[in-house]
Amino acid sequence: MALTPDDLTDDLPLQRSPGPTWQDKLDEDVNKIPEYLRTESPYLNGFEDIPKDRYLSREFHELEKERLWSRVWQFACREEHLPEVGSYIVYDIADQSYLVARVAEDEIKAYPNACLHRGRMLKTYDGRCSEFRCPFHGFAWTLDGDIKHIPAEWDFPHLEVRSEEMMLPEVRVGTWAGFVFINPDPNAEPLEDFLGPEVIKHFERWNLQDRYVAAHASKIIRCNWKIANESFCEGFHVNATHPQGMSYTGDPQSQIDVYGNVARQLSPKGIPCPLLPYTPTEEEMLRDALDVREGEDLPVPFEEGDTLRGVLSAAGRERFRPTFGDGVDQMGDSEFLDAWVYVVHPNFQPWGAFNRIVYRFRPNGDDHETCIFEMMYVAPFSGDRPPPAEVVHLGVDDPWTDATGLEKLAMVAEQDTFNMEQVQRGLKNLRREGVTLSRYQESTIRWKHDLLTDYINRGPVQL
Ligand code: FES
Ligand SMILES: [Fe+2]
Repeated sequence: MALTPDDLTDDLPLQRSPGPTWQDKLDEDVNKIPEYLRTESPYLNGFEDIPKDRYLSREFHELEKERLWSRVWQFACREEHLPEVGSYIVYDIADQSYLVARVAEDEIKAYPNACLHRGRMLKTYDGRCSEFRCPFHGFAWTLDGDIKHIPAEWDFPHLEVRSEEMMLPEVRVGTWAGFVFINPDPNAEPLEDFLGPEVIKHFERWNLQDRYVAAHASKIIRCNWKIANESFCEGFHVNATHPQGMSYTGDPQSQIDVYGNVARQLSPKGIPCPLLPYTPTEEEMLRDALDVREGEDLPVPFEEGDTLRGVLSAAGRERFRPTFGDGVDQMGDSEFLDAWVYVVHPNFQPWGAFNRIVYRFRPNGDDHETCIFEMMYVAPFSGDRPPPAEVVHLGVDDPWTDATGLEKLAMVAEQDTFNMEQVQRGLKNLRREGVTLSRYQESTIRWKHDLLTDYINRGPVQL
């Protein structure tokens, strides 16, 4: 029976892709994941288009500065970027800059990056210091933010009587799984409440705090930050953008869950994409997954009756055993092979399980038509923690493959980046007011915009 406009309510039964689901594959796995990782929490909220102005207009960028970046928990750095007392990083978001510093063995603070004399940026690069001394006239603050030195103090009698104005103002700091977050809103909810108990519990078993940044690359892209970000919030594009993955990754079979401010997309390996015009065997899927070419032998043992999931999860378990320990035996097969993409509102994507991947998307300074897209690997280690990888900075025309350490991901990211600038340009030609989304596969994008709307509707932040 044909649908009518009146049928388009959230009561319309949710359709899923033909073929097995991620949950079906989990039932077949030898080593199961715990039930709490299997819960389903789909997101349905209407069928409206997303206004294209959100990506194109300067006014919307100004609203985001005033109402999103000024009040949201945002990933600033890893704890390991602040290894010693006095270590600091400069975290920039749109036209704002913050100093994030380890001020004691177990305490991290963040300050707006401005001297309280005449406003110069206190720091313009990451490093380590014993005080924050302004390069302009030499005012200095302790790591704790107390005023420490006023040159020619005799000339500032007014500051003697208004000394409380000379404390560096603090912004909120929270840590989770080895990630350091800041929030400029003094009335923000605690980071733990923002992330929510389900997501915190999911990550407990993966020990991301005991990882190190093994690779880190950052690239400028000619598109609004949300266009880049949303390219990683759905697997629907795999069939056209990454066709090399279609035989062994069932992206349309992905499960999408939303838990408040965090969503996740779970894409199973070992299910061919139903859009593929043939059905590959388990061995063919495995050959494609391992990029084994015509005439080459598989690098892993494979016998009659073996499956891609069985072979790859066993290999993954052994790959992580030296660094993660025998805890790998308690992990499910899925944790070694499937894509566990977590999406933290508004711009941060730490993948779960053993995927190692972390993404962050920011406006490129105060420019709403370009953005900074970063990729990191957070990998387990044994022995002493290795220092975090230096950031490789890529310009607009530098390929991801110029960044060392990203391996196959660089090639995949190159395919994704190929679309981003063309979406930005295409939106200016679009003779519709908005873009339209698939109901389930792109529901993470709807959820992101709904949260963004909530933030915008809350008005300016009360400081
Ligand atoms: S602006 Fe910083 S000391 Fe003058
Ligand atoms: Fe992609």
